[in-house]
Amino acid sequence: MTRKPLIAANWKMYKTPAQAQEFVKNFLPLVARHERDEVVLCPSFTSLSVVIAAVTGSGVAVGAQNMYSADEGAFTGEISPLMLKAIGTTHVILGHSERRQYFCETDETINRKLHTALRHELTPIVCVGEVLAEREAGKTEEVLLRQTRGVLAGIPPEHAAPIVIAYEPVWAIGTGKTATPQIASDAHKVIRGEVAKLLGAEVADKLRILYGGSVKPDNATALMSESEIDGALVGGASLDPQSFGKIVNY
Ligand code: PGA
Repeated sequence: MTRKPLIAANWKMYKTPAQAQEFVKNFLPLVARHERDEVVLCPSFTSLSVVIAAVTGSGVAVGAQNMYSADEGAFTGEISPLMLKAIGTTHVILGHSERRQYFCETDETINRKLHTALRHELTPIVCVGEVLAEREAGKTEEVLLRQTRGVLAGIPPEHAAPIVIAYEPVWAIGTGKTATPQIASDAHKVIRGEVAKLLGAEVADKLRILYGGSVKPDNATALMSESEIDGALVGGASLDPQSFGKIVNY
């Protein structure tokens, strides 16, 4: 089974629209005619439009870092899938561990967002991953199974094809501590095995599982060489065009 790798930049709460535009100007020449991987930039909401305009015709796609689960309504401060779609956003990160940690997101709220994203044909990048205490207590597998089941609840197999899962061990995010290719690969196998049980072998076989957590130019090749690793979700190292360009060209 060949799965097209997906490499996504998660800029988090960095970059003004002008800075985002400057990034794209410097980044596009580094990935011109790059077809091996799907490349996605995820700026903050206020930079989506300028980034979408700037990447036009390049093959690079643009995703949001979050969205709400309703189409519209009295939800002050939230952004709907319709708004994202209307400006040309194609992907959306859901349930990032920072959303879970600081903004009370749970498997249940992420699951609602996932249903909504699929209904609107946004490609969801759904994040799962254990915190350090869970890993040290030997609970990694249990946590990954619980999160995988929770976020995928009620998704019919025939609608699951666009789903991308990102395995992001929380202890590796922004810490400079990368999971070894073996640790990541083992976690991906747990997730894929559970997806096979929930949605069938065919969906599991095609499912892209990204690794995220201190991916850098110097560890990208080793990680991407694992057959279980179908791409990367990159935070800190995606803020600089040279550095992210090197990761995409692993
Ligand atoms: P990092 O972040 O690459 O800075 O560790 C990854 C992420 O949070 O998606």
